[in-house]
Amino acid sequence: MHDYQDHQEERMKKRIAVLASGRGSNFQAIINAVQEGKIPATCCAFISDNPNAYAIERARKAKIPVIIIDYSLFPSRELYEHALLSAMLEVRADLFVLAGYMRIIGPAIVRSFPGKMMNIHPALLPAFTGLHAQRQAVQHGVKVSGCTVHFVDESLDGGPIIVQHCVRLQDGDDEDSLAERILEHEHECFPEAIKLFCEDKLEIVGRTVRIR
Ligand code: GRF
Repeated sequence: MHDYQDHQEERMKKRIAVLASGRGSNFQAIINAVQEGKIPATCCAFISDNPNAYAIERARKAKIPVIIIDYSLFPSRELYEHALLSAMLEVRADLFVLAGYMRIIGPAIVRSFPGKMMNIHPALLPAFTGLHAQRQAVQHGVKVSGCTVHFVDESLDGGPIIVQHCVRLQDGDDEDSLAERILEHEHECFPEAIKLFCEDKLEIVGRTVRIR
């Protein structure tokens, strides 16, 4: 009986694939939440464009299959994206999670997985899109920044917003100190959004994500 129930539960779990280019601390937070049973999902693959990403070690430790598509080995962006798309189709994931994946995802890939790809951005979108969001926030002199988990569409960091956490700026904050405090929130925010997705609680209505 237990075996049957376990099997059913396993079958209900979503398959999530994570893409990252570097250190992978967000990836680790996701691995932990999955291992602790907080997210009803299986990490079916880890994909990286960077063969030196520390995130690869994290995947290996967690026994998650690793796929490396080394960007530097491709003669053009188009060919790289073609290889990436093939790999993404092959892993049959219900959700793709961009956890510090440092390249823009091209339109062919975005269109292949509508409503099935999430990104985390270290600012309160729509403010400070693109690179160095924490630096942009400090330079602008805002009093509050934070992080945003959003669905990926063809715009730059502009897809429907799922979860946001606020972080207050303190006197003397620089890019690094702010990034550090925002990161702590990223590690809560991302698993939270993925959990909602895996529980089928997210509904995209135009620009808005409704949480059921
Ligand atoms: C995070 O700040 C994330 O918001 C941004 O890239 C950074 C990745 O950090 N997209 P890590 O690799 O998860 O530690």
